[in-house]
Amino acid sequence: DIEQRISALLAQMTLEEKVGQLNQYSGREVTGPASDRKNTLLSSIRAGQVGSMLNVKGVKDTREIQAVALESRLHIPLLFSLDVIHGYQTTFPIPLAEAASWDLDAIRLGAHVAAKEAAASGIHWTFAPMVDIGRDPRWGRVMEGAGEDTYLGSQIAKARVLGFQGEKLGGTDAIMACAKHFAAYGAATAGRDYNAVDISEQQLWETYLPPFRAAAEAGVATFMNSFNTLNGIPATGNAYLQRDILKGQWKYPGFVVSDWGSIGELANWGYAADKTDAAQKAITAGSDMDMESDAYHQKLVQLVQAGKVDVSLVDDAVRRILRKKFELGLFDDPYKFSDEKREKQVLSDPQNRAAARQMAQKSLVLLKNEKATLPLTKALRRVAVIGPLAKSRRNLNGSWAVDTDTTRITSLYDGLRQRAGKTTELLYAKGCNVSGDSRAGFEQAVAAAKNADVIILTVGEAWDMSGEAKSRTDIHLPGVQEDLFKALKATGKPVAVVVFGGRPLIFDAISEQADAILYAWWPGSEGGTALADVLYGDYNPAGKLPITFPRSVGQIPIAYNQQYNTGRPITKPGDIRYKSAYIDSPNTPRYAFGYGLSYTTFKYSDLKISQAQLKASESAQVSFTLTNTGKIAGEEVAQLYLRDPLASVARPLKELKDFRKVSLKPGESKTVTFTIDKDKLAFYNSKLEWAAEPGKFNLMVGSASDDIRLEGVLELQ
Ligand code: IFM
Repeated sequence: DIEQRISALLAQMTLEEKVGQLNQYSGREVTGPASDRKNTLLSSIRAGQVGSMLNVKGVKDTREIQAVALESRLHIPLLFSLDVIHGYQTTFPIPLAEAASWDLDAIRLGAHVAAKEAAASGIHWTFAPMVDIGRDPRWGRVMEGAGEDTYLGSQIAKARVLGFQGEKLGGTDAIMACAKHFAAYGAATAGRDYNAVDISEQQLWETYLPPFRAAAEAGVATFMNSFNTLNGIPATGNAYLQRDILKGQWKYPGFVVSDWGSIGELANWGYAADKTDAAQKAITAGSDMDMESDAYHQKLVQLVQAGKVDVSLVDDAVRRILRKKFELGLFDDPYKFSDEKREKQVLSDPQNRAAARQMAQKSLVLLKNEKATLPLTKALRRVAVIGPLAKSRRNLNGSWAVDTDTTRITSLYDGLRQRAGKTTELLYAKGCNVSGDSRAGFEQAVAAAKNADVIILTVGEAWDMSGEAKSRTDIHLPGVQEDLFKALKATGKPVAVVVFGGRPLIFDAISEQADAILYAWWPGSEGGTALADVLYGDYNPAGKLPITFPRSVGQIPIAYNQQYNTGRPITKPGDIRYKSAYIDSPNTPRYAFGYGLSYTTFKYSDLKISQAQLKASESAQVSFTLTNTGKIAGEEVAQLYLRDPLASVARPLKELKDFRKVSLKPGESKTVTFTIDKDKLAFYNSKLEWAAEPGKFNLMVGSASDDIRLEGVLELQ
C-alpha cells in the first residue's frame, strides 16, 4: 500500500534528502526571472537535492535527467512539470477562448489531448488549469482562465482537471493537474500583475474560492499558490489559505507548489526579513514545494536544526510529494513516460488536430452580423484578406504555447485559401503592423479592397501582449488598426472584421461601423482552418463571451455580477441626475457576459416553474421551450440567472446559476429544464455562513446576461 511505502522511504531519508524533495528547479527554458545556478544542476540532482524539474520536455531530455536522479542514494525519481496550458504540440485555443464555448465536454477533451501529448513526451505534471476568476481585462492573465463568472469557472475547472488527469492518476495518457493560483490572484489591484489583493472575506469565499474547491473535489493532484497578498498576507506565506482552508477544512491530500520565486519574494513584500525567514514562513504556512527560490534548499535544514521549523512540517510536505510520485507509478517504472515510439506516435496522431479544430470553431464569438454579411457565399469572386494578422502564424498560438514550430500553425489566410476554392480570388494586403503608427500600407490595402466583393480585415493584439506580466492600462486595439478599418470602410464594401486577442479589447469604430465582427481570441494551431469553417458557414458559431467587454477602461470593474441595484438606480432612461451613473458613458458594457450571435435565431417561450413555492429540502424544475427560428442548424447556450431582491446582504442584479448548450435543426424545438435547489439560492451571509434566506427570487432565462427572454418568480419558504 502506498502509505506504507511512503513511510518506509521516509524512514530512510536524511533531513537533506527530505528537503531535496521540496526543491524544484527550472531547466534551460525560463518562465520567470532567470537564475545563475545552471552549471550545478546535474550534481544537485545526483545528490538528491531536487524533487522536481520544470521546463524540461521531450522523452530524450527527461530520460537523461531522470537517469541522473536515479543515481542518487535513494533512487527517488523526479517529477517533470511544464506549463501545458492550452495544448502541448497541438495548440488549442487559449483557455479564455475555450471558456467561450461553454462546452464542458469539448474543454475536457482539449485538456485530455494536451495531457496525452505531454505524457508521451516525458511530462508528468502541468501547471494548469488556472482557475483564477479574471474580471479585469487590464490583467494580462485573463487569457489563461475561464473568465469572470464563478459558476462557469467552477464547471470548467472540474472539466479541465478531469481532462488532464483522467479519473485516476497513473495512466500514460494523463498527467497531474495543478489548480492555480491559490488564491484571488485575479483580483490584483488595478489589473497590474503580481500586485496586492484586498477583497472582502465574502468575495473571497463567494467569487474566488469555489473554482479551487471544484478542482479539489475533482481530485486535482496539486495546487500552486500565488504571487499576490491577500488582505496583507502574501499567499505563499498564508496559513489561513493553505493550512486552515485547503489542508484543514477541505482536507486536501495533494501538495502545494509555490509560484516561481514567490517564497523569496516574501522578503520583497516586506513580509519576511530575509530568505531564511521567508523559508520558515512559507513552510509553516503550508507551501510544500519551492519553485526556483532556492530558499528551502539553502535554509530549511538549518531552520529544522535550530528548532525553528518542526521536522513534522517537512515530513508532511515530503509525504504529500512522494504520494504523487507513487500514484503516478514512478517508483515502479521511472521511465514510464519516456517511450520514444509512443512519443512519435501520439504527437503525430491526426485526431489531436481534429480536436483542436473543433475546439477552435466552438470558441469563436460572433459579435455582430448585419445584412447577413456572414457567412461568405460561394458567389463571391474576390475576397480581400487584409490586416497584420491575416498571414500571421505565431500570433494564433497566443501566450503560453509550448510548440515553437510555426509551420504547424494554419494562418487565417491559409485556412481561407484552402476553403475558398478555385473560383474565388483572395486579394491580400497587410495594411499595417499590429503596433506602431505607420500608414504606409493603407494605400495598397484600400486598392485591394476596392477590387473585392467583400473585405475580411484581421486585427488584434500580438501574442505577447496578453499573458503573464502583460498588464495594459489601455486595452484599445493597438497601433493604427482602427484607422485602417476606417479607410477600408470608406470604400463602401462590406467589411467583416476578425479580432484576435488574449483579453477583451476596445474597438469603437469597428463595433459601430463594421458589418460583421468575429472574436477569434488566440485560436491555436487550427485557428485558420476553424475561422474559414465559420466564415464560410460550414460551422455555425455558437460562442458566448465568458467575460464582459467594457466600453472604456474607466468602467472597470464591470463584470456582470458586480452590478448592483444601488441606492440610486437609473429608473428613467437618460435621466442620470444624482443617479449611479457616469456623465460621459453609459453604465452598460460594449458586449455583455454571455453574449454571442449565431447565423440562425432562437426563440425562448413557455416558461414553467414546477412549483411557485419551495421548501428548503425540495428542488424546483424551471423549464422552457427553445426553438430554432432560422433556416440553418445551430447551437444556443441558454443561460439561467437569478436575483435575490431582498436579503441580509445586498445581492447582485444577476448571477449565473446554470446553462445548457442545445443543438437545434431549423424549425426544431426542445424543452430545456434547469433544477433549482437551496444551494443555488444560497450566498455567504455576514457571518460567512453559506445560507439561503426565505423569500422571493427572480428567475431569468436568456441568451446573454443582457438579453433575458423569460422571467419568473420562485419563493423559498
Ligand atoms: O506556472 C507558472 C505560473 O503560472 C506563473 N509563474 C511561472 C510558473 C511556472 O512557469
